[in-house]
Parts: sequence; structure tokens; C-alpha cells
Amino acid sequence: MNYLIGVDIGTSGTKTVLFDIEGNTISSALKEYPMEQPHIGWAEQNPEDWWDATYNTINEVITKSGVDPKQIKGIGLAGQMHGLVLLDKDNKVLRPSIIWCDQRTDKECQEITKLIGKDRLIEITANPALTGFTASKILWVRNNEPEIYAKVAKILLPKDYVRFRLTGTFATEVSDASGMQLMNIAERNWSSEVLEKLDINIEFLAPIYESQVISSCVSSEAALLTKLMCGTPVAGGAGDQAAGAIGNGIVKPGVISSTIGTSGVVFAYTDKVTIDPKGRVHTFCHAVPNTWHIMGVTQGAGLSLKWFRDNFCTAEKEASEYMEVDPYLLMGDEAEKAKPGCEGLIYLPYLMGERTPHLDPFAKGVFFGISARHTKRDMLRSVMEGVGYSLKDSLEIIKEMGIDVKEVRASGGGGKSPLWRQIQADLYNSKVITINSTEGPALGVAILAGVGAGVYPSVAAACARVIKTVTSQKPNDENIELYNKYYEVYKNLYTALKDQFKAVADIISTSI
Ligand code: XUL
Repeated sequence: MNYLIGVDIGTSGTKTVLFDIEGNTISSALKEYPMEQPHIGWAEQNPEDWWDATYNTINEVITKSGVDPKQIKGIGLAGQMHGLVLLDKDNKVLRPSIIWCDQRTDKECQEITKLIGKDRLIEITANPALTGFTASKILWVRNNEPEIYAKVAKILLPKDYVRFRLTGTFATEVSDASGMQLMNIAERNWSSEVLEKLDINIEFLAPIYESQVISSCVSSEAALLTKLMCGTPVAGGAGDQAAGAIGNGIVKPGVISSTIGTSGVVFAYTDKVTIDPKGRVHTFCHAVPNTWHIMGVTQGAGLSLKWFRDNFCTAEKEASEYMEVDPYLLMGDEAEKAKPGCEGLIYLPYLMGERTPHLDPFAKGVFFGISARHTKRDMLRSVMEGVGYSLKDSLEIIKEMGIDVKEVRASGGGGKSPLWRQIQADLYNSKVITINSTEGPALGVAILAGVGAGVYPSVAAACARVIKTVTSQKPNDENIELYNKYYEVYKNLYTALKDQFKAVADIISTSI
């Protein structure tokens, strides 16, 4: 029997899964780590935590399964995208990683737009300058910590730093590297024009491979820590969204995924480069050769519900420990008792600023329309609905770009909630389905590793073999109309509050 491993280096933790080649989970392990927020809008993690979680979870899945490491034919790495890892000439990490949801780089985005030109930047990198992307984070370090920047010898993404620790090799791949905003997206390689204009040394960057290519092998040092065989092939892997899309079978037109993890992403496959001229959704290389994808991102999707859980659901957390169930299950039961639309209570999920469609690092979360009648369960449901409205924003733009939407596949932690899936079906007026595996990104990169190692002939063939539909929820006619009305109010709320978000950000910035 042959096996594959997928490692998903996420924001709340790293999850490693051992699969058989039919895509069945044999064993899995999760190790969590913190995200530091030294100021409002900042977000940092320690790269050592990712490596520590990676080698420990690989070791754990092998130990628990009893599988002979010789039978593990390949490993794929999926990672939270855009995070900046800086190494010095001795390959030591120079500062904590500034991660994807950090919003400190508004000035640097303006600098990038000025240096390259707004239209040219979109033409080459398929996206406007965004605070979430890596390029502006590099410039921030150069502008604010010149003594650190002077020591930089390598610039890596989170999963590519883990690859370096696992294999000793510097490499990246097209899907994750797209989110650095230093690539020519149509050519699937670094853009010399962007690098020259931003004055970033190409030597700092790792070579780019297609995602399924085996670019390195497990080192003897890492073999000791992980229990893997030295020389086990490691595929390029993918950014978590492209990886999750493969793990959900988003490898053909018409099938869209909606993933609620820490962020929320609506993801569509394309076989040609298709760009939103307003830059509201991202166009990146897909992890399948010669294909691209479009995705809209809600910064604070699962993050919103987690924030609510951690601050207002102590009782549910305690009860869930006692009952040995997931606290989100109890929260979902509560939310289900509130009415659709929450009697006018609307939540804006902008806890970490927002990308699609506003591209606004200053936006903040809002509960609008609270009355004395509302209770905690309404607030809970409104958080779920607010994330749904925000994902609908992305889906509407994707449709506007001429992409066909036949079915939406729900995934991520949020995809496990039947209520959250029904809210989405009602909001999108579309069938929402789930598939047989909930391991999205880990399965996606295990598939890529399988293709690289010759276990499967292609990504599409592997998806056809391992991915099956298991549930399907239809929209409820009564709710469609109600949600359409509330969606209009939801959209108008941002327009009404935009200037006030900025005014508050200015007050905060003068007081730190
Ligand atoms: C995608 C994005 C997030 C992170 C964290 O552009 O920023 O999905 O990858 O999950």
C-alpha cells in the first residue's frame, strides 16, 4: 500500500494528514500556535512555531498509524499565504513573520502603486497593491527596520520556510508565489520589471516551480525528527487556498468553492488569465499547470466567530468541554434558534480590515441594528450571516467577470456547520454541497505530491478518483428574498461608515 502526506501550515495551527491513495484519512494531527498582535491591525507569528508544529505532527501521524515510512511516496506542503519570512546569510530568521492579515502597510502600498503605476501593476501582477500581500511587507521592513533589511539574504513564504527546514532547499511554487505580488502572473515567473522598480534583489527569492513538481527531498536531519525516510520526495505544494481548491475538486469551470477558515474565500478556476479591472478579487496562478484562479477574500470569516467564541461564549466553551463536543456545535445550535435576518441585526466582519470588495485596511467590525429584543443568539447568527454577505460580495464579482457558477462546495471549519451552509445556499441562491473529505488543503497538497511522485497521472484524474459529493443543500425560497433585502442594507453600511473607519484609524495612529 502507498501513502501520501499533506501538511497544512495554517494561521491557528498546523494540521498534518496521512492519506492512502484513495484519499482516505489514515491519521491526522494538529498543533496550535499563537498569533501576536503588537498593535491594532498588526499580526505576527514565529516561524519556529510552524517548523516545530510540522515535524511534531508528521512524527505523530506516522507513529499513530503504524505505517512503514518507506510506503510514504511523497509530501505536499500547503501554507497560509503572503507571510514574510526574512533570513540572514546564515539562514537565521531575522524577525517575526508579518503574516497575511497584518494591515500595517498602507503607505507602502501607495509607494508600490507610485513606483509601478496602478494599471501596469494590475497588468503584470493581476492585482492592485494590497496590505495583505508580501511585497508591501518587504517595503515596510526596509522603510521601518533598515538595520534588519540590511541583513536580508533570503525572502520566503511560510510553507517555503518549512520546506527549507524539512529539506534544506530553497524553493517556491506558482500558486503561493502569486500572492507575493512580485510575479508576472501570465508568465508564471518572477517579474524582472516589478523587482527592478521595487529594488528587490532577485537573489533573495527562491526559484519558482509548478506546484506538482518534486523540488526537494527530506534531509537526514529532518528524517530523524519526523520519522520520514531521508530522501522522501517533497512537492512544490500550494498556497492554502489553491491547495484547498484541489482538495475540493475545483479543477474545472462552473464548480466554485467557499471556504471558511480564519479568512473566507470564494474560489473559481479559469483556464485563461481573467482579471477584475477594479482589482476587487485576486487573480493568481492555480496549482494545476497552465491554469489560473480568481478568488475573493473576507479577512475575518472564521476569525469573527472565533473572536465571538473567545470573548462571549465562556458558557458554551465550558459546556462543550464537559460534553466533549466542539463548542462551535453548541454555538450553531443557539444561532439556529434566531430568525433568518436576525430581525434586522447585521454584522460587518471587518475585524482585520477587508479585502474583497473594499480593499480597505481601516475597515472595522460592526454590529448594526441592535434592539433591546436581541439576544446573544441573534448576535451569533448575525456573525454567521455577516460572513455570508461578505462571501456573497465575492461571488457576485466572480459572476460579473463572466464565470459560470453551477455549484458551490463548502469547506473549511465553517463548512462543517449545516446552518452556515444553509445561510450560504439562501444567500447565493445556489446549491451548496460538501464532499467526502474535510481535509481540503492537506488533501490538495497530498494529491500534488502524488502527481509529482507518479502515483496519479494528473491533478484532474486524482480529483476524479478521490473526491465524491456527500451532502447537498438547496436554497430555501422564503429566505432568498429576505436575504436579498438585507444584503442591500449590508452593502450600504460600508459606504456609510467608510470615512468614519478612517477617522478612527487616524485617532488610534496618533495615540500609539
Ligand atoms: C489568501 C489569504 C488567506 C491566507 C490564510 O489570499 O490571505 O487565505 O492564506 O489562510
